[in-house]
Amino acid sequence: MTATSGTLPGTLGPAVGPETGLRPVTPAGILAERLGDLVRRAEAGEDAASMLTDLTRAHELAAGLEPYVAASTSPESPALAALAARTREAAWSEESPLEAEMLSGHVEGRFLRALVRATGARRVLEVGMFTGYSALAMAEALPDGSGAGSVVACELDEGVAAFARECFDASEVGGRIDVRVGPASDTLAALADEGASFDLVFVDADKTGYADYVRRVLDTPLLAPDGLLALDNTLLQGEPYGAGVLSDNGRAIADVNRLLADDDRVEQVLLPLRDGVTLVQWAAAPTQED
Ligand SMILES: C[S@@+](CC[C@H](N)C(=O)[O-])C[C@H]1O[C@@H](n2cnc3c(N)ncnc32)[C@H](O)[C@@H]1O
Repeated sequence: MTATSGTLPGTLGPAVGPETGLRPVTPAGILAERLGDLVRRAEAGEDAASMLTDLTRAHELAAGLEPYVAASTSPESPALAALAARTREAAWSEESPLEAEMLSGHVEGRFLRALVRATGARRVLEVGMFTGYSALAMAEALPDGSGAGSVVACELDEGVAAFARECFDASEVGGRIDVRVGPASDTLAALADEGASFDLVFVDADKTGYADYVRRVLDTPLLAPDGLLALDNTLLQGEPYGAGVLSDNGRAIADVNRLLADDDRVEQVLLPLRDGVTLVQWAAAPTQED
C-alpha cells in the first residue's frame, strides 16, 4: 500500500504523512492512512472486492483497539461490576435522556482511579453522576482512615440519584459519596459560596453546560491551586474536527475546547481515551528560561 497523507475533507490537515516526512506510528494514525488510501482507490474506480484485504485490515485495527485496551487494564471492582450490570439491565424510558450508554465504565473508571491516586486527591467533585460509576470508582481510590476524603457528586435527576445511592449502599466506600441533586450550576454556585475547594473535578454532565461549569470552576476557588480538572467527551464522537454538521453537543464541546485553549491561566492535554478526556491544570509558573 502506498503511503498517503491525511488531508481528506473535514480533517485538520496532516500531522503525519509525506508532507511532514513522518510515517504514522499510532493505531489512529495508521488507520487514517489506510482508510485514506482506500478512499483514493475507491475514487479511482477500484472495485470493493480487490480492496477487501485492506478493508479487513483497517477494520481489525479499529475493532481491536478498545477490547485490547480493556484487556490490558486492571479489572474493575466487584461493586463497580455490579453497578454497571444493574445499569445495563435497568429499563430506561425512551422519553428520558438517560440511557445505559452514559456510564463511563471500566477503562475510564480505572483512569479516574489512577488520577485520584497519582494526585493524592482527598476532595473530589463530580459534575454529572448518572448511576454513579465514576463517582464510586474515584471513591474507591480515596485513602482509608480518618480524613479519607470524599466525592461530592452532582446530579440533576432525582430518580437516577436514588438508583446510584442504592448502589453506593452496597459498597463499603459508598459512604464517602455525598450526592447533591439539582442543576449542577446551582450546586457549583452553592459550593463556591461555602468556600469549598477540590483537588480533582470531573465534569461529565450535559455538554451544553460545560462552558458554564468550566467558568464556575476556574473563576472561583473551587479548583485548588494544585487541583486537576478533567472533562469527559471532549472528542464528542469526532464532531469537533469532523466534516459533518455540528450538533448542539458538538458545538458546545468545540466551544469549550477553544475556551480552554484561549485561557492563559491553564494548561491542558486532550487524551484520546474513549470519547476524549481533557486534563486541565493551572498553568505552571514561567521559569527563567521561558
Ligand atoms: C454522561 S452521564 C454521567 C455519567 C457518569 N459520570 C458515569 O461515569 O457513569 C451525565 C449525567 O449528567 C446529568 N446531568 C445532565 N444535566 C445536568 C445538570 N444540569 N446538572 C447536573 N447533572 C446533569 C444527567 O442526568 C446524567 O445522569
